[in-house]
Amino acid sequence: MEAIAEALISEAAAKLKTVSERFGLEGEEQNEARELLAEALGRELLPGEAVTAAVRRRFQRLIGRRMTGEPLEFITGRVRFAGRELKIRPGMFIPRVTSEFLASQAVRRLRGRRLPAHVDVATGIGPVALTVALGVPHARVWGLDISQKAVNQAAANARRLGAENASFRRSDLFARLPDKLWGQVDVVTIHPPYVPSAMVADLPAEIRKFEPRHTLTDGSRDGFGLVRRVIDEGRGWIRPGGWLLIEIMPSESRRIRSLLKAGGYGDVRSTHGEYRETRVVTGRR
Ligand SMILES: C[S@@+](CC[C@H](N)C(=O)[O-])C[C@H]1O[C@@H](n2cnc3c(N)ncnc32)[C@H](O)[C@@H]1O
Repeated sequence: MEAIAEALISEAAAKLKTVSERFGLEGEEQNEARELLAEALGRELLPGEAVTAAVRRRFQRLIGRRMTGEPLEFITGRVRFAGRELKIRPGMFIPRVTSEFLASQAVRRLRGRRLPAHVDVATGIGPVALTVALGVPHARVWGLDISQKAVNQAAANARRLGAENASFRRSDLFARLPDKLWGQVDVVTIHPPYVPSAMVADLPAEIRKFEPRHTLTDGSRDGFGLVRRVIDEGRGWIRPGGWLLIEIMPSESRRIRSLLKAGGYGDVRSTHGEYRETRVVTGRR
């Protein structure tokens, strides 16, 4: 029997409301239910549309997954970043809108340079690297991540978006960056896994249960293990006058500024975009 889509959406939104406080989707229940119905249908809904029993069953399965706290992005396989759609699968870090500011800071510093090189370490599915590659087409961009699964997805995203100037590699920080880039990199960006190890247990369930632990914390007590390494190892890769840009929580920006200064970087500053819950701390070689 066919059912009217709008009625199904309202019914599902009411179900989602029962878990919305737990999984932080307050106010989004109706939108998410609509998106999941479109997902079950395989296309956008038409006004006043009726859906078949098979679509309805698929929809109910998707709502069931969302009710467990599984993020919408893993269910639909899509995430939007800087106006583009990226593909994503479970087992990866979901790009946050706050990182658009990190990408814009890199673009700003690269645009005026001749044949610039950008390295995005801990690139995940490539949101920052791809935004830079498409925003600065004359740049050469490298995205590096410890997870093979993430870099495969980043490379697939690059192909879909036509970012031919971006390459992705599995690498522990800079370990597998080509030697010819030593001392030649104009901008290094990193959005590190910065949660102190003891605080992972306090993260919201939809993050803690669904995003891999190594994408959230580097396992260090203060959460700065990887940041210390990138400050130290990045120095040799960045050309004189080039930049290291680190995305971090505002409460930690003073600490990161001290680490950058102690690491021999100049022009150390903390800056933020429209979302104040993260900062980009900058240092210059
Ligand atoms: C907070 S996520 C950021 C991902 C991406 N930059 C973004 O904003 O969506 C941190 C990333 O660091 C990667 N990572 C963790 N340890 C690493 C290491 N030693 N070297 C390179 N990448 C690492 C994780 O796999 C994860 O993709």
